[in-house]
Amino acid sequence: MRDIRMKGLTRRQALAGGAALAAATSVPTGWAIAQAKPLKVGLMLPYSGTFAKLGENITHAVEMLIAEKGGKLGGREIQLIKLDDESKPEIAPQNADRLVKRDQVDVIIGTVHSGVQMGIHKVVSESGTLCIVPNAGNGAVTGQLCAKNVFRTSFTNWQPAYGMGLAAAKKGFKKGVWVTWDYAAGAESGAGFKEAMEKSGGEVLPSLVLPFPQTNFQPLLAQIPGLGVDVVGSFFAGGGAVQFVKEYAAAGIKVPLVGSGFLTEGTLEAQGAAADGIETALHYGDGLDNVKNASFRKAFLQKAGREADVYAVQGYDAAQLLAVGLEAVKGNTDDEAGLYKAMREAKMDSPRGPISMSPSQNVTQNIYLRKVQGTENKVIGIAAEALADPGTGCKMT
Ligand code: PHB
Repeated sequence: MRDIRMKGLTRRQALAGGAALAAATSVPTGWAIAQAKPLKVGLMLPYSGTFAKLGENITHAVEMLIAEKGGKLGGREIQLIKLDDESKPEIAPQNADRLVKRDQVDVIIGTVHSGVQMGIHKVVSESGTLCIVPNAGNGAVTGQLCAKNVFRTSFTNWQPAYGMGLAAAKKGFKKGVWVTWDYAAGAESGAGFKEAMEKSGGEVLPSLVLPFPQTNFQPLLAQIPGLGVDVVGSFFAGGGAVQFVKEYAAAGIKVPLVGSGFLTEGTLEAQGAAADGIETALHYGDGLDNVKNASFRKAFLQKAGREADVYAVQGYDAAQLLAVGLEAVKGNTDDEAGLYKAMREAKMDSPRGPISMSPSQNVTQNIYLRKVQGTENKVIGIAAEALADPGTGCKMT
């Protein structure tokens, strides 16, 4: 971390280390004192609004991994500082700044919303604070604005939507439309779907959009029957996705609804029969048959009192990635080169299967085709194998 606090002893550290200094027979180095201190991790996530459950699941999973490691990563105790970002981009820079300057966090794990991510990105690009993105998919963060201190354990908005476009074309759909919120995640996922459909000779009309986080879907739904499309693709998530899927079914529209997998992720209990049969593409599915997934789902259910979903997986992997880095440098975050090298080269056993980082520090991963059956997103195939975001424009410093 570029943060000068870690280089020598600040007044605060000297005070904190005072007792240790007095008790010691030999004078500990700045590093030894810094290492004895807990590592502060800011969890900047939505704990209210349409994405509240997403932020909660990420948090549960981060806490779970830390507990599995006995409360310490690389020998450092972990102190979590939670901040509700409310999925509001306009207050994101102040919020991130508060974590870095006032709370003096060593790491930010955040966030869910692509617009809020831009605010965090601005702050961590300037301060050099390590940032691990546990959901938000905006391409720029691991594209033209990529930075060596920023890692992402989730996806780019392009990845699942591109996979869905490939799968939709393969099923024979020729003309589609994307329905979504009017912000980065909606636009980038729509572009991915369109790119894949067009590559296969299909066509996608201009998106139907409404402002985030609004849910007055009726004017959009009313347009669909007149468009002459044979498939409707969609990006919504959290509470908004619950409502959209219910209203789509209630409207009696005959055109099949597909989407980035968030449309039916962590939402199926609430969507009920309205979601039955919907096919989506995502880097996770409920029935993924691997040892890690089985133990992860069991532990998550025990901790959170509800089933795991992709958000939980991404949060768990954010904490796993931090653990890999800290273990490599034995908790010495002053060894920035060693810390980032270990994170870049991490090979992790994720509940989604084995994962590694792409050159722009996003995950290279399978995009699964899933179909809703009852309260499960059953994996029915692979929409795109080992798909890496191209990381266009990334020049890693
Ligand atoms: C995003 O804003 O990038 C975003 C939000 C929720 C999701 C996926 C992406 O489920």
